[in-house]
Amino acid sequence: MSVVETQIENRLGRIIINRPDKLNALNNEVLEKLESSILDLQQNSSIGVIVLQGAGEKSFVAGADIAEFNGLTADQARVQSLRGQSVFNLIEQSSKPVIASIQGFALGGGCELALACHIRIASENARLALPEVSLGLIPGYGGTQRLARLVGMGVALDMILSAEMISAVDALRIGLVSRVYPAVDLDGQTMRLAETILSRSPHAVSLALKAVRDGLLLPLAKGLEHEASLFGLISQSADAQEGTAAFLEKRKPNFQTKDM
Ligand code: COA
Repeated sequence: MSVVETQIENRLGRIIINRPDKLNALNNEVLEKLESSILDLQQNSSIGVIVLQGAGEKSFVAGADIAEFNGLTADQARVQSLRGQSVFNLIEQSSKPVIASIQGFALGGGCELALACHIRIASENARLALPEVSLGLIPGYGGTQRLARLVGMGVALDMILSAEMISAVDALRIGLVSRVYPAVDLDGQTMRLAETILSRSPHAVSLALKAVRDGLLLPLAKGLEHEASLFGLISQSADAQEGTAAFLEKRKPNFQTKDM
């Protein structure tokens, strides 16, 4: 069994981080396999949505592997941080939506991994934290940057400086996750959300994702210009012809475009 398993079910690609005895902690082998899994699914034109999850019931990912952090030189630690960031950037830059399905612990690098995904949904038993300052470290796989952008500076600093775990309900309240379900329902509800996205126009889903992601890096006026350009582009697509015609003809659209 590999430390990262990839499964393909029709148009859904599932990535499972598989080190349950270490609560799926991210060591360098996991990072390497995670990188190749993302690249493979990204290049597979039949895949429309990617789900990322941890093996076992106890943990999504309980952090970067602390055993690999001990005794690093400053240069080695900086390179390690850049390495984790580059894998997570690949996820964030994916043209296919990536859903983090969070069961149990999402701590440190696990929370940062979820932050790099486009959508986060959690089970009621999920516990999320950036506990690095309790280890004498700071988040190094994007947490100081992405958490503040997602939930605002005050709430992000509360989490980062206290290092406290928060519940799924609190994560929902602050917008760190967007849906919470009983643990037994998480997998089914994750699939339901993935199927719903897969039923939409793949071309439109991909451009909407791009518009939101790119826009966050731009001043509002530039972001609006970007949105208008992408709107122009999508308006000429076969999916836009089909989607609008289907509405007017009072039928379900039959989107043919599969590539994202
Ligand atoms: N890195 C390396 N190993 C980890 C790990 C991590 N981030 N998180 C858990 N593990 C390992 C434990 O060392 C233990 O291994 P062992 O059985 O060989 O001793 C195994 O996973 C099970 O964890 P354990 O601590 O026994 O489970 P628990 O239910 O008592 O506690 C946690 C769960 C999540 C509270 C606890 O494991 C923990 O605090 N982990 C570290 C969380 C963290 O600080 N993450 C940020 C890292 S930057």
